[in-house]
Amino acid sequence: MQPTQSPFPATRFRRLRQSPAIRALVSQTLLTPSDFIWPVFVRDGEGVVEPIASMPGVNRLSVDKVVEAAREAHALGIPAICLFPYTDPAKKTKDCAEAWNPDNLSNTATRAIKDAGIDIAVMTDVALDPYNIDGHDGFVEDGYVVNDRTVEALVKQALSQAAAGADIIGPSDMMDGRIGALRKALESHGHQNVCLLSYAAKYASAFYGPFRDAVGASGALKGDKKTYQQDPGNSDEAMRLIARDLAEGADMVMVKPGMPYLDICRRAKDMFGAPTFAYQVSGEYAMLAGAAERGWVDGDKVMLESLVAFKRAGCDGVLTYFAPAAARLLNG
Ligand code: PBG
Repeated sequence: MQPTQSPFPATRFRRLRQSPAIRALVSQTLLTPSDFIWPVFVRDGEGVVEPIASMPGVNRLSVDKVVEAAREAHALGIPAICLFPYTDPAKKTKDCAEAWNPDNLSNTATRAIKDAGIDIAVMTDVALDPYNIDGHDGFVEDGYVVNDRTVEALVKQALSQAAAGADIIGPSDMMDGRIGALRKALESHGHQNVCLLSYAAKYASAFYGPFRDAVGASGALKGDKKTYQQDPGNSDEAMRLIARDLAEGADMVMVKPGMPYLDICRRAKDMFGAPTFAYQVSGEYAMLAGAAERGWVDGDKVMLESLVAFKRAGCDGVLTYFAPAAARLLNG
């Protein structure tokens, strides 16, 4: 960048904004459907599309409908779909055994997408909260979410996902040492090519509220997640977490939530140059979709503006509930 600008009228910034053609020519950031990972909520049943009240336009889908969604995503040019199970409360236990049941909802949906021969990457979530009677991402002992015993369970969960055919495993639990443990286990069980997309910089955020409704974890959750998720005021800690997870074997890293944390995305990309993703989480979706539903903002425009901002901030891609809607717009 030039230290000084020549004075007006030699520099008329508006010259480069005068027409769609010239604006396109100097545009720095391109958003395409291949930037998206689409998170979907899976439930039991058949032919079920169940709306989620706090996320207008987002539904819980039975496995057959998830397969349809994956087919649609592929047709739109979206390269990956991410599965989150809504678990029957009767299957939630203290030992979270449903998390590594080879036939749980997440694994069944993964297999169904793979069996249908759809050329899309399937990402799965590693954390115990959908299966835990306590609603936490790890085991609770004496009111504290314990680390090492949780990591052992996460390894079992991840191996069941890899066996079901997951291409990308996303540990969202924030336990220490889990990336190294998962990488080692995947390697020793013949899953050398399973990618780890670490939720490395995940904050203890109030923006996850609608998600916890969507997976049925809000009723169960006791207390908060501040002993394992980061303080929203911390930036250096995020860099240390990302450095650690890359060193332990993460292929890609994530910052979560997204819009209020673009400074973290930029810093992460500049510092590590690793494939960097942001998760535009449920509360961010709810804010935009809810305001659009009331006619307070133009839904399509705020959606695309929010998404291009992630790219500008250095992200290679975004997990977003807007993925299909945005892809449809971008495909014209
Ligand atoms: C938990 C998990 C959460 C999300 C993804 N995985 C919520 C939490 O940490 O409580 C949030 C995603 C969203 O809000 O869209 N393992």
